[in-house]
Formats: sequence, C-alpha cells, structure tokens
Amino acid sequence: MSVRVRFLPDDITVNAEVGESLLDVADKAGVFIPTGCLMGSCHACTVEVEDGNIIRACISSIPAGRKEMTINLFSDPTW
Ligand code: FES
Repeated sequence: MSVRVRFLPDDITVNAEVGESLLDVADKAGVFIPTGCLMGSCHACTVEVEDGNIIRACISSIPAGRKEMTINLFSDPTW
C-alpha cells in the first residue's frame, strides 16, 4: 500500500510504501535529512510529523493505516 509523503518546507510529495524507511523516502524525494549515528541516539535526523510528534528519521519508517503524511524538516541549523 502506498502513502503520499509530503516534505515541508520544500513542499515535495512522493509516493512511499508502508515500512519504507524515512531516510530512503527523503532520498527519493531529493530532500536532505541530516544524519549522524543512524542508530537513534544523536538526534541529528530529527523531523516533525504533522501531528506534532518529533521523530528520528533514521529509526522511523512509513506507518501503516494512513494515506498520507506530512514531514516537517527543521530549518533551524542548531538541530
Ligand atoms: S542519525 Fe543519529 S539519531 Fe538518527
């Protein structure tokens, strides 16, 4: 099942599959999410989902049960 994933602030939407990793989806969209450890401990890859949840992209994947989701990349360079 595919999910439409929208990345802000660039406003780029791509189709992704449930279970696909967020970093892969961002890559496919041409959106750059900074990463460091890739293990969920450094928080370099932190992004915000439309419901206000803060997640770490490197340990997150596309959830089942929704048709679309919006991912907000923090533009604050101190993150
Ligand atoms: S890259 Fe370190 S928490 Fe994701």
